[in-house]
Amino acid sequence: MPVLAVLGAGRMGRALGLAALRCGWRVVATRGRCDRLEELERLGFEATCSNREAASKADVVIIAVKPWLVERVAGEISGVVKGKPVVSIAAGVSLEKLRSLLPDAEVYRAMPNLGALYGLSATAVAGSGPSKKLVEELLACAGEVFWIDEALMPAWTGLAGSGPGILAGLADAYMEACIASGLAREACSRLVALVFEATGRLLRDKRPAELRDDVATPGGTTIEGLVELERRGGRAALIDALLAAVRKAGRLG
Ligand SMILES: NC(=O)c1ccc[n+]([C@@H]2O[C@H](COP(=O)([O-])OP(=O)(O)OC[C@H]3O[C@@H](n4cnc5c(N)ncnc54)[C@H](OP(=O)(O)O)[C@@H]3O)[C@@H](O)[C@H]2O)c1
Repeated sequence: MPVLAVLGAGRMGRALGLAALRCGWRVVATRGRCDRLEELERLGFEATCSNREAASKADVVIIAVKPWLVERVAGEISGVVKGKPVVSIAAGVSLEKLRSLLPDAEVYRAMPNLGALYGLSATAVAGSGPSKKLVEELLACAGEVFWIDEALMPAWTGLAGSGPGILAGLADAYMEACIASGLAREACSRLVALVFEATGRLLRDKRPAELRDDVATPGGTTIEGLVELERRGGRAALIDALLAAVRKAGRLG
């Protein structure tokens, strides 16, 4: 059974750790607040306060701390990751930086999203080495894996990493429309979640424009809403929002 170390089992680290557990990996996890390790144990992880100890036990190491803590964590594990695959998911931390921090390790840079909780992450990964297949197997537990040139990482970060958060902003507006239409809050929560989930499933088989044309009967309600969306610049606003996220990711590195 392969062993994964998740250094920094917060929101994203836990999602990846849980995905690995579902795939039959053993997971050793760390966090900053060492007095709360039992929360990690309840999830099925072996918890320790030592990043070094966790990394020394692992076949693959994931660094999932905030970007400004990567240097510190790398300093703690260098020496026990010689020849091991180490995957950083920290936004803006380049492969060059990772190689300089961990010269003996085989480093990768990945960008998953919280869809990992359901095996639905669109995960980009850059880097290469003898353990590439093992890294892909691990990340595939969390969803689909796309090997990309690192230059495209900011685009992936803005579109796929920030994607669920940006769509959640739209879903919140959807909720308001639902409540304003007189439906109960609880019913609206279910309705919005199901509409988003159903749309996602439908988009696996059809391009967005095809799906839109399937639903928009001439003279019907959907086209009425779509015309208003266009008139109010709704589509342009979404494009601008996503491109702003991509630009911000580019400034981070
Ligand atoms: N959230 C996303 O959707 C997403 C998507 C893609 C990539 N990322 C990247 O993932 C990383 C983590 O983001 P997040 O949203 O998961 O943040 P988060 O929930 O704050 O998780 C960060 C984790 O790091 C732990 N930590 C702090 N200091 C540590 C140390 N010295 N050693 C080990 N662990 C330590 C924290 O411990 P405590 O829990 O005890 O505070 C926490 O569990 C970031 O670099 C981000 O760029 C996030």
